[in-house]
Amino acid sequence: MDTKKIRNIFFDYFKSKEHKIVDSAPITVKNDPSLMFTNAGMNQFKNIFLGDEKPNFRRLANTQKCLRVSGKHNDLEEVGIDKYHHTMFEMLGNWSFGDYFKENAISWAWELLTKFYKLSDDRLYITIFGGDKKEELKKDIDSEKLWLKIVDKNKIVEGSKKDNFWEMGETGPCGPCSEIHIDLRDKSEINKIPTAELINKDHPEVIEIWNLVFIEFNRKKDGTLEQLPNKHVDTGMGLERLSMALKGLKSTYDTDIFKKIIKSLELISNIKYNDDLDSDIAFRVICDHIRAIVFTISDGAIPSNNKSGYVVRRILRRAVRYGYSRLNLTSPFLFKLVDSVVEEYNDTFSNLKAQKDFIKSIIEEEEKTFLKTLEKGLLKIKDLKKKKSEKKMISGDLAFELYDTYGFPYDLTELIAREDNMLIDKNRFESLLEKQRIRSRKSSIIEADDWKIVNKNPKSIFKGYDKFETTSWIIKYRQIIRNNKKLYQIVFSETPFYAESGGQIGDRGFFKTSKEKIYVSNTVKENDLIIHETDSLPKSLNEKFYLEIDQKRRSFISKNHSATHLLHSALRQVLGEHVVQKGSLVTEKSLRFDFSHFKKIKPEEIDDINMIVNEKISESISVETKENMTIDKAKKMGALALFGEKYGEKVRVVIIDNKFSVELCGGTHVNNSSEIGLFKIMSESSISSGVRRIEAITSLELLNFTNSESNILADLKDILRSNDIVKTVKNILKVNKNLESKISDFNVQKHKLIKEDIKNNIEKINDCNLIFNHFDGEPVETLKKIAFEFDSQYKNLIFLSTSVVEGKPLVLLLISKNIINKYGLKANEVINKLTVSIDGAGGGQDFLATAGGKNIYGIDKVIRDGRTYFNSVINN
Ligand code: SER
Repeated sequence: MDTKKIRNIFFDYFKSKEHKIVDSAPITVKNDPSLMFTNAGMNQFKNIFLGDEKPNFRRLANTQKCLRVSGKHNDLEEVGIDKYHHTMFEMLGNWSFGDYFKENAISWAWELLTKFYKLSDDRLYITIFGGDKKEELKKDIDSEKLWLKIVDKNKIVEGSKKDNFWEMGETGPCGPCSEIHIDLRDKSEINKIPTAELINKDHPEVIEIWNLVFIEFNRKKDGTLEQLPNKHVDTGMGLERLSMALKGLKSTYDTDIFKKIIKSLELISNIKYNDDLDSDIAFRVICDHIRAIVFTISDGAIPSNNKSGYVVRRILRRAVRYGYSRLNLTSPFLFKLVDSVVEEYNDTFSNLKAQKDFIKSIIEEEEKTFLKTLEKGLLKIKDLKKKKSEKKMISGDLAFELYDTYGFPYDLTELIAREDNMLIDKNRFESLLEKQRIRSRKSSIIEADDWKIVNKNPKSIFKGYDKFETTSWIIKYRQIIRNNKKLYQIVFSETPFYAESGGQIGDRGFFKTSKEKIYVSNTVKENDLIIHETDSLPKSLNEKFYLEIDQKRRSFISKNHSATHLLHSALRQVLGEHVVQKGSLVTEKSLRFDFSHFKKIKPEEIDDINMIVNEKISESISVETKENMTIDKAKKMGALALFGEKYGEKVRVVIIDNKFSVELCGGTHVNNSSEIGLFKIMSESSISSGVRRIEAITSLELLNFTNSESNILADLKDILRSNDIVKTVKNILKVNKNLESKISDFNVQKHKLIKEDIKNNIEKINDCNLIFNHFDGEPVETLKKIAFEFDSQYKNLIFLSTSVVEGKPLVLLLISKNIINKYGLKANEVINKLTVSIDGAGGGQDFLATAGGKNIYGIDKVIRDGRTYFNSVINN
């Protein structure tokens, strides 16, 4: 049974049980500070479980792209070593939001596995939650009873909190779970050790395939469990494992999912998979990691040094290093695997194909960068291994140097260390890293208390598309600490404040009662919650508040947001349809737009783009927004959507001339394009391979800019006393150039004369040639140049010269090498003896030294003292 069929059977089965089939959420998570990547199918439904959002459907099913490389759920270290763990994997899941519970979840799971997938029931085992004294949680007797109707008692294993109480992260929805495990071992092995003894014991052939979670609690920040208002079902079945089990295989890498990717890697490396233990591990790591890399980039994460970008970078570098060390792949190769990944997944996750070239270029560039330092870093470790020390240890300093200078993520160094049986001084590494973090602390550190409920009202409604003020009640609030600063976050039942999202910054403003007024410094979003940030809390919380945003600021933000849409379409018109939005920032001052494009934009293209946008502004087009359009209809209209953004069934569409700009967008906009006034691109640059950035301004900001530019021009006209300043400046530059060449001719002549003069005044003592000369106004560079010229012509030279530049005395002393040896004279020592009269201080080498001084009146004495000193040394 191929994997596509396995997915379809799952969807068909749950459709027949009245489930709505929905899309996978993006693998990268936005709007949830507690999570960077989707690590379970339920992430996108967290708010529904918590009761913060009402579901549109009570039963859903889908396949979800998941990534487990950090935090509570992290499988990175197992990947490749065994044959069934993955960083990125697909999770088939069915959900009930306050609808069916344990009975249906259990009987359907069993029916699907045994009747539809036709897995033999004697291979399947069950785990249930055995309770936890410390948490005061009872054994899950209900599940046990339900399972006993289906399977024998000896097939049910009780598990601890670690295995049978599922939690999303440190906080959030959770509950007891019941897992279905499968035994893939040969019969003879099963006869030796019964399956039940190997459940949850990390046996590679006795593994979990489906987890049925019964969500009924919320884990709070203080560690306590709070009963949720409703009970829910969250199930997750690993598609790769299911596929392996259905084919009777013992490795997920032997399923059809990996066939094309492994084949490509065999061709690239000229090495066969399943041939050798070391290279097989590398094959599995690379084939696993490339999927994770392609999916995360396609959903908007780009390798970088921050947050989710750094996770992608870590995975990618790990794969590069495996290829380099075990498959002899010393030039970029990962990007060549992208085609096979896209081919395998394009039918299921449609956003891959359109981004293929972009993804490839990002990966290739990242590979190139890392390969430049990888070899050097590996040599450092090799050198260390050669040293004969008692304990083989990678010091924290070396691990940090590898991280900081050579780009080795810590877990990569750890991996190499492990392979060579070495240890790393992790404490020292971490303290160095912490010091660096403190030095360059950019990302905000947030510590949030639990929410305190003021009014039970599940929804907070945004009214700010057409209202700038409302009256409202506080639903809940909490205290947070960000960058050592205490703030409050407040959620209202209704609000005109737009929360930072989709690139548009959050609103500012205030809320008040007749007794007090509180300033809102920012509005942010967490999942779909609109959160107002303030420095203080109102004294009385349970009041009706009047809320008002800073309208002027909002109006400039809206102008810039609409201008961003016009820019987006103009870019596609001028540069081509490959232009896809990669990010944006819309503020009251300016707009920034990042997009995929592979070369610098030419000045004439910039002119065209500016012109198109300004034409659309001047055409006074009314901006239409359509709320609640079905996503299918919007797509039919050709609406531009963002890859990696989570869209529901119903979307909001913003249209500025339906043949020109149609975008899915939740932001605020002008009513008519003419409100934007005027638009101008201020800069165009590259931010990473294949991604370019445009910054632009509009409206009054642009007026301010042109005003200040024309003031500068007016000043210049005044200073230059000219109306045609271009011509005047060109003339000045020409005259300047002539003067420069005259001065340089003059200097050549002057130096020639000086040198003649010096030559005539060379003093001789024994076999030494001594030059003492004062150069008036010549800089130290000239003194040096002339000293070198004499040094190449005269043996045994002592060259002592002085000069005064801009009122400051300076001295240069050159002593040829044989004099240094013969008389033990060192220029850098002698110069300090000779510059006392000018309050001098200097230094340099044995051969050449310079000094500067403070007392201009002592300058003649330097030469006098020099003459006396060298005479006495040489004559003795
Ligand atoms: N949330 C559970 C898991 O990830 C079931 O979907 O295993």
